[in-house]
Amino acid sequence: PEPGWTVRADIVVVGSGIAGLTVALRYAELVPDARVLVVTKDVLSAGSTRWAQGGIAAALDPADSWAEHLSDTLIAGVGLCDTQAVQALVTEGPDALRRLMAHGARFDRRPDGELQLTREGGHRRDRIVHAGGDATGAEVQRALAEAVRAGGSPAGRIEVIEHALVLDLLKDASGSACGVTLHVMGEGARDGVGAVRAGAVVLATGGMGQVYAATTNPLVSTGDGVALALRAGAVLRDLEFVQFHPTVLWLGEGSTGQQPLISEAVRGEGAVLLDASGRRFMTEVHELAELAPRDVVAKAIMRRMLETGESHVLLDGRHFGEEKWRTRFPTIYAVCREHGIDPARELIPVAPAAHYASGGVRTDLHGRTSVPGLYACGEVACTGVHGANRLASNSLLEGLVFAERIAADLACLPRVAPGEPVDDGRATGLVDPRVRPRVQARMSTGAGVLRSGRSLAEVSHGLLDARWTPVAVEPCTEAWEATNLLTVATAVVTAARAREETRGSHWREDFPERDDAWWLGHLDVTLAEEGL
Ligand code: SIN
Repeated sequence: PEPGWTVRADIVVVGSGIAGLTVALRYAELVPDARVLVVTKDVLSAGSTRWAQGGIAAALDPADSWAEHLSDTLIAGVGLCDTQAVQALVTEGPDALRRLMAHGARFDRRPDGELQLTREGGHRRDRIVHAGGDATGAEVQRALAEAVRAGGSPAGRIEVIEHALVLDLLKDASGSACGVTLHVMGEGARDGVGAVRAGAVVLATGGMGQVYAATTNPLVSTGDGVALALRAGAVLRDLEFVQFHPTVLWLGEGSTGQQPLISEAVRGEGAVLLDASGRRFMTEVHELAELAPRDVVAKAIMRRMLETGESHVLLDGRHFGEEKWRTRFPTIYAVCREHGIDPARELIPVAPAAHYASGGVRTDLHGRTSVPGLYACGEVACTGVHGANRLASNSLLEGLVFAERIAADLACLPRVAPGEPVDDGRATGLVDPRVRPRVQARMSTGAGVLRSGRSLAEVSHGLLDARWTPVAVEPCTEAWEATNLLTVATAVVTAARAREETRGSHWREDFPERDDAWWLGHLDVTLAEEGL
């Protein structure tokens, strides 16, 4: 649609989680007179960051080292991590975390005043910093949102437009990004479709968990940034590696939408997994038992569920006692009690659910995508730090570290007026919003934790059918979200069909082994791929 209004900025950041707000703040610090605009789909604090429980991984303990953090990350990524990107993550992480604390984030401390560190799956050391027990993301989001509202720097100004769904990238005649179009659900002059003209565009739109029927992601995580990047001709990478969190509170057969997370930290503090007959099974699967990397635990749970015919397994943290549950895990304790479970006395029913996209828009070490002037950061990006399976609590860290790298890169660029957008003559056909639950159901059935060539082919045909719309669809947020979900689902399935092996979070029933001879490499997806 033709934009009805235009605003200008030096940079526009799309998304307001840890990645987006850190880019905005750091750029405002480095270029104090710059005009920085953050646009966000809901209110400033509605994205995935605030739901993060476990924490932020960083080698801060004197007994720990960045080299061990690097090693654990590479092991979890099953051969597909970019070692240079991981090295940047683990070496720059501790300072990035200190700067986050300087912005006001308060983390849990021991009685001696040192940061309290815990452990999660795949980490061989206690290195997870947390806040409010199990409310790390909420604290990070609070601190960053307050800092952004305060302007980011003594001279700087960060403007925020809320309720603004990003539609498409604007490109100039040279093919460089020069802004975005937005659909704003608001009042007054900015209502409707508008444009932001900016020298650079940073995508920090978060994840795509809503592509699946059951997910830990909030309703807003509809893969908008991945879909936009794809339409803009950017290269996407590693989309088949969708991580399923092993322990999500099981709410009953067929429960859909955002599901409550039971943090890895609960297992890190000693809770164990039992099957329906009360038998502990992770000790037979991996030397780290319940603290094996996430893909290993999720697969073992699925296998046990398939063997026993049960729809969930059980998490036993009864030995923590009520006091520890209330103080160390207040969010999880409250959620369990809301659902009639007393975790100090009862077993918690859990099952895997879609949690995190390890792949996304391919970037280099400075967050640059394959489209000049377009950057990507956080879950929407594929920086190469996660490989085939993300190590727990590396995501908030990635958001911090690569946001700072992007801000530093942007600060070195000359500040020139953005180019004139050119019309590429391509109109996005919107799909009927009613396809959303159908796409989600198909993806969970055929492209979930366990997939095969056959199940993926069925999903693929189903997605093609879903494209067909009997009536003209009015442009509205729901239609754009459904269109984005369908685009992203198709791209995920295309990649998952192509990778004929099992690796990390991509588990092919028909190719159950890891195949380093053929598949020790990445799959890049672009708009030109069949079916997209
Ligand atoms: C959790 O607390 O288990 C989630 C942490 C993560 O996804 O990194």
